[in-house]
This record gives sequence, C-alpha cells and structure tokens, in this order.
Amino acid sequence: MDKLLIKGGVPLVGEVAISGAKNAALPIICASLLCGDTLNLSNVPRLQDVSTMLRLLGRMGVAVADGDGALALDSRGLDQPLAPYELVKTMRASILVLGPLLARCGEAKVSLPGGCAIGARPVDQHIKGLQAMGAEIRVEGGYVLAQARRLKGTRIVTDMVTVTGTENLMMAATLAEGETVIENAAREPEVVDLADCLTAMGARISGAGSDRICVQGVDRLHGARHAVMPDRIETGSYLCAAAATRGDIVLTHTSAALLDAVIDKLREAGCAIDCRPGAIALKAPPRLKPVSVRTAPYPAFPTDMQAQFMAIDCVAEGSAVIRETIFENRFMHAVELIRLGADIRIDASNAVVTGVPMLDGAMVMATDLRASASLVIAGLVARGETLIERIYHLDRGYERIEEKLTRLGADVRRVR
Ligand code: EPZ
Repeated sequence: MDKLLIKGGVPLVGEVAISGAKNAALPIICASLLCGDTLNLSNVPRLQDVSTMLRLLGRMGVAVADGDGALALDSRGLDQPLAPYELVKTMRASILVLGPLLARCGEAKVSLPGGCAIGARPVDQHIKGLQAMGAEIRVEGGYVLAQARRLKGTRIVTDMVTVTGTENLMMAATLAEGETVIENAAREPEVVDLADCLTAMGARISGAGSDRICVQGVDRLHGARHAVMPDRIETGSYLCAAAATRGDIVLTHTSAALLDAVIDKLREAGCAIDCRPGAIALKAPPRLKPVSVRTAPYPAFPTDMQAQFMAIDCVAEGSAVIRETIFENRFMHAVELIRLGADIRIDASNAVVTGVPMLDGAMVMATDLRASASLVIAGLVARGETLIERIYHLDRGYERIEEKLTRLGADVRRVR
C-alpha cells in the first residue's frame, strides 16, 4: 500500500487550484440515472470515490465517457438496477443510487453500505422517506430491496439532518407523482449544486439550501450540462495546512462563500484572509491562537473540517475544545496526532487540545478520509520526517495531493 513521506517545517507558499467537490460530484453522477439522455459534467475531480461510482453505474448499463475532468453519462441502456456489496462496501455514498433507480426503473437492489471508521452510518432515513413516497422496501441478506410502480409525492420530515438522505429523496421526488416536501432538509452547498443540476435536467425544485425543499414531480427528465461546484472541504484543508506552517497561499477556482464558518475560525486563529472573486488568500501568523469548534450541519462548522482543525490546534498557543456532534467516532486521528507529540485529551464527544511548541515526525496511520488530511497537516508542520500509512483514504477525496503540496513548496513524496 502507498505511503506518504513528508519532511516537515516548510511554510506553504504559492498558488494552487481547487478541484471539483467530491460530495457534489457523487450525487450528481447518480442523477444521470434519472434520464435516458446524456448528462455532460465538467470540473469532475479525479478521485477514487468518483471512479468507484462510475464503475458502479457502468455495471448497471450506463455508458460513461470519461475525459480529463469531463464526463458524459448516458443511462439509455440502464438495465441492471443493482448495486453489489463488493462495490458499495468500499464507498457508502453508493446508497445515492437507491432513489434514482427507484424513480427511473421502479425497482432497486442496493447493498447496505455498512458502517465505516467514523460511525455506524445507518440509512434508515433514506428508507423511511422512500417508504413514505409509496415504495415497498425490505432489507434482506444485507441488501435493500425496493419496488414502486410510481412514487407519490408527500411531506417528509427526517429525524435528523442527513445530507445524502436529503439528496436521495430529492432525486426520487423529481419523477414522483405530485408534490414532495422535504422538511428538516440538509442545507449543504452540495445539496444546492445537485438541485441546480436536476433543474437543468427539467426538474421542478424550490427551497434547495433551506431546510424545506419542495419538488413538483414531472414525467421525465432530459440531458443537461453542469459544472460541479468547487470542493469547500479541500479548500478548508489547504487553508489549514498553510495556517499551521506559517504559510502564505492563494487558492483559486474556489469561493469563500462556501465556507464562512471555517474562514471565521481561521481569522480567530490569527490568519489574515483575503476573499476575492473565485479565490481565497491566506497569510498565517507566526503562532496560531487556539480555536474551539463545535461541528453541526451547514451553515455551522462542518464535521469534515474537524480533524483538520484539531491538527492546527495541536501547535497553537493555548488550549481549545473540539466538540463533534455529527458522528459518534470521529476522533481517531487524535491518537495518531499524539504519536507526533500532540497533547490531546478525549472525553466522549469532546477533545481538549493543548498546543505544544513543536511536533516531531513519526510513523502514523490514516483511518478515514479527513483524519488522513489532519495527519498530512501535522506532518507538514512537524520537525523531521512523518510517514503516513494507508493513504488510500486520502486518494478518495484529495485530487493529486502530493502534486499540489509540492507546488506549494512542501517536501512530500509518495512511497510504494
Ligand atoms: C455526508 O455523509 C458526506 N458524504 C460526509 O462526508 C459528511 O461528513 C456528512 O454528510 C455530514 O456532513 C457525502 O456527501 C458523500 P449524514 P452522509 O447522512 O450523508 C445520521 C467526507 O469526508 N444518519 O448527513 O452519510 C448519521 O449516522 C464524508 O467526504 C442516520 O442516523 O451523512 C450521522 O450521525 C464523510 N440515519 C448524521 O445522521 C440516516 O438515514 C449525519 O449523517 C442518515 C444519517
């Protein structure tokens, strides 16, 4: 398995372009299942998760033409509404095919995603919402078996805010009979990007970005062109890497409007941040001030940035509290950061981080996508060499990471 070898202590300086958003591209690729035309996508990030999703759709009979960052998806030949375990277990976002398959084909057999490192990650809200729309769903042999002649619009209130749950139900509702109202809907920008793409395909959606989304069902959707939005978590991750290393960077092809809460916290930590049209510039202070964060659904501080902020708090001047409210087990990066010399005490869903003057490089192991990003940040700031194992986690969500970091002056290389 690949490893990443980082020689720390080098401030990140320079300019890199941010890629398209993984968590927008994945549901938008699934939206191609809803119409028998071609969906043309651009600014698609080249990531492991995207390749897995394209492989999954290819197995179903979708024609995939994959250019550099551009995709043409044609599900005219869709004839196998099945998402098998061996693919779904590697990427839980595969559950996003359930709603579109049910709406387009009237049936779907989708493997339950199973848990992942950060938590149980159930999909009960996806199932509950589709059942409310008239689907007959049973779970058997680790698979969700769903059938519906035609879904019927209805009012759905999810028990908690769920991003992919909202996306699955919104996609299913586009072809349902009548109006569907999703209350307690996720407000993430990726939900809005999906709604924009569905609207371009002929769907009738209002309220995306609010906690109440209304969808008027139509008989069919058509092909469209859509550019995937920038990745706000990749953006935040590079901002944190520059903040931790006393860096001075500019990120292009991104937008500060996507991550207000993160930018506010980085300013609180002492970074000078200049938001320009399509770009963000960050100049770090000589020493960061500690910042406490509490994760919550958008527009609050995103759980996908929690691990990265734990890394910067490790070298800040003082103590901070990090509270994770979304996932039950999203502190696994803490024990790895402690191996680098960090001072972190975990108490249930709270982590108390006390900054140390310096971290020391060591061998560490990535456990999930954003945990691996926090280890990269810590490795960039640590004295000496840090070797990060299991970086396949990183490759799921960060396009060409060593190329982008090298461009910013980091001493990093991939070792087989
Ligand atoms: C999405 O996951 C993202 N993934 C995650 O990003 C992100 O961390 C998460 O939203 C929260 O923002 C994609 O968009 C592909 P949820 P999702 O449903 O939709 C519970 C990354 O790093 N829940 O919003 O799976 C759930 O257990 C990934 O890119 C249920 O109980 O998350 C969690 O505690 C990691 N039942 C909470 O709700 C359900 O049916 C929020 O989960 C659904 C969710």
